[in-house]
Amino acid sequence: MTTQPTPIVLDVDTGVDDACALLLAALHPALDLRAVSCVGGNAPVDDVVRNTLRVLETAGRTDVPVARGAERPLLATPVDARHVHGDDGMGDLGWPPARAAADPRHAVELLRDVCREAAAEGRPVTLVPLAPLTNIALLLRTHPDVAPGIAEIVFMGGAAAAGNATASAEFNVFHDPEAAAIALDAAADLGIPLTMYGLDVFYQPVVPAELADELVAVGGRGPAELGGSLIRFQNARFNRSASTMGDAGAVCVVIDRGGIHTEPLPLRVELAGHWSRGRTIVDRRDWSGDLAHDPHGEAPVRVDVALEVDGARYTRLWVDTLLGRVGER
Ligand code: BDR
Ligand code: CA
Repeated sequence: MTTQPTPIVLDVDTGVDDACALLLAALHPALDLRAVSCVGGNAPVDDVVRNTLRVLETAGRTDVPVARGAERPLLATPVDARHVHGDDGMGDLGWPPARAAADPRHAVELLRDVCREAAAEGRPVTLVPLAPLTNIALLLRTHPDVAPGIAEIVFMGGAAAAGNATASAEFNVFHDPEAAAIALDAAADLGIPLTMYGLDVFYQPVVPAELADELVAVGGRGPAELGGSLIRFQNARFNRSASTMGDAGAVCVVIDRGGIHTEPLPLRVELAGHWSRGRTIVDRRDWSGDLAHDPHGEAPVRVDVALEVDGARYTRLWVDTLLGRVGER
């Protein structure tokens, strides 16, 4: 019996590591990439759309619709991360522009349509947000009828421990904390299972310089060369000999769940704190204690939080996919 590929939809702010994730989702034979929605985050949304189209065209996947979504957070002031991802948001590689154009629908409409079709087909999608959760919050609150079309949400964002955008908060949640709170609350309301691939695991699957060189050496302006160049960009920018594949790790979860260890934990998003705004407060207390005396009570949202990852396993998965060593599509 052959297993059908898992239908998957990515929400991105491409983004060097979003590009790494897109390459994997576009090329791995266990995945059926149905659509990509774009949101402002690492770069302004128009750059995100341009970058996303470039990556998919490089992977030979011009069949995948790409739509422009929210250009700013629901409430917060946008702050991009071009100091991390380069002026064009994707490593300033001078990569050729895509010929394909974006889908005319707003990203939320594209997500709505794809989820409804998946529900009708009886093959719900795995939704993988790798960016601020603005589009996802808008989708789930505006069109809650999409729930039967979503098997689960595996998102990159948050942290049980330290942040990166601030000492407390991870970038995707920090960028639009209200959206993160709404998206998680709505998903829990609608009975959509949630897995958080946050900073506790995000930096561990790294690609060493030698493997990046191997990828670049394939050449031809193809996916391997692009993936290797994105790692090289990070190594050069941060003066390292290995760099994270970042968001691509969340896509690895969909292909190979055994690469992470998760625990189902209550989670809240801090919206009011000054120093801690955007923090995901992951409750790791032992509840044999006295919950009745906690004035906050238990958070209503439970998330499978990734606390450990087999980094080498995910690195291998990503590199082998880009080198075309995991079977033909
Ligand atoms: C996340 O923020 C962005 O910089 C990356 O693309 C990733 O999604 C890490 O905090
Ligand atoms: Ca991202």
